[in-house]
Amino acid sequence: MAKAASDKQVVLITGTSTGVGLYTAIRFAKAGYEVVATMRDTGKKKPLLEAAKAAGVKVRVDRLDVLSQKSIEGSVKRTLKRYGRIDVLVNNAGAGFLGSLEQTSDADLKRTMGINFFGVWHTTKAVFPHMRERGSGRIISVTSVGGLIGQPFNEAYCAAKFAVEGMMEGFAITPMEPAVDAGARASESRNYTVQKGDTLASIARAQYRNEQAWTLIYAANRDRLSHPSDVRAGMRLVLPPASTPIPSAAESVPASRASGTTYTVRKGETLYSIAKKMYGCTTYWTLIRDANRAKIEASGDVRAGTKLVLPPRPSGR
Ligand SMILES: NC(=O)c1ccc[n+]([C@@H]2O[C@H](COP(=O)([O-])OP(=O)(O)OC[C@H]3O[C@@H](n4cnc5c(N)ncnc54)[C@H](OP(=O)(O)O)[C@@H]3O)[C@@H](O)[C@H]2O)c1
Repeated sequence: MAKAASDKQVVLITGTSTGVGLYTAIRFAKAGYEVVATMRDTGKKKPLLEAAKAAGVKVRVDRLDVLSQKSIEGSVKRTLKRYGRIDVLVNNAGAGFLGSLEQTSDADLKRTMGINFFGVWHTTKAVFPHMRERGSGRIISVTSVGGLIGQPFNEAYCAAKFAVEGMMEGFAITPMEPAVDAGARASESRNYTVQKGDTLASIARAQYRNEQAWTLIYAANRDRLSHPSDVRAGMRLVLPPASTPIPSAAESVPASRASGTTYTVRKGETLYSIAKKMYGCTTYWTLIRDANRAKIEASGDVRAGTKLVLPPRPSGR
């Protein structure tokens, strides 16, 4: 499907010819995103391009009419072909319509629902499978006070915005589970491009639904990660099959690559208290235990004077 994934995060925004959409496109570009600024009529791109020039940023204009599924799918396809990813979708395109129920024709209602609701539905539906496959993504839909409180003479618009609120509220709890079938996921290695803000723990959480699987990713990528916190945006990592046994922290982080920190146990200390003191969290006692099994008594106690290796703390944990 995609050529090569972009190093930058990619945002696709609808309705950027003017207003909120135009300024959102500029803000994302200033924040370092690759911006696909879509509009139904690309003949209206001048104000956006002038604003981008004034801000010293670049945006890519593409045609997308939210009333046409073909147009939506075409734009999503072009974006994925060019950048290999869509990290953020902003459903901004919208249009007001003032009129009471009695004044609103069926054509007005269909158009208002079409732009403000079906457009959001179809664009989200076109982008989401890709985000699901990658295991990450953000979808922002611009609604309105009219999507929270019904306003007189604004019934059709409010109905559409309420519909978006309901859709997004329901959708927000959809798990970001990869769409590949469980069998393939369990038995095949995959590649993953690290995104801004990713840590081994967050990747493990998203890709294996198990934060502890950070050790699995680290063990498979030691040639490019000198330390578990070495992950950087744009780096390609191998994700071993989900069926691979998850190594302990000690197996994953060989002693030679451990932080080098040794710790001499003081009287009255336990693995819990050392974890709290050295990592700021008692749950890290298992990290210490796994790296020092031979020095820990069967009861789980550790004698004063014992020298323990403290493994590096995986970033994001
Ligand atoms: N402004 C407000 O007071 C306010 C308040 C609450 C919520 N909102 C919401 O904020 C969002 C942006 O509004 P705005 O104030 O920036 O409005 P705007 O200046 O009228 O901009 C709306 C944008 O949506 C585009 N659009 C309309 N129909 C489209 C279609 N079929 N396909 C693709 N794009 C289409 C417009 O393109 P064209 O230039 O081609 O028409 C324009 O770029 C909307 O969802 C709106 O409901 C606005």
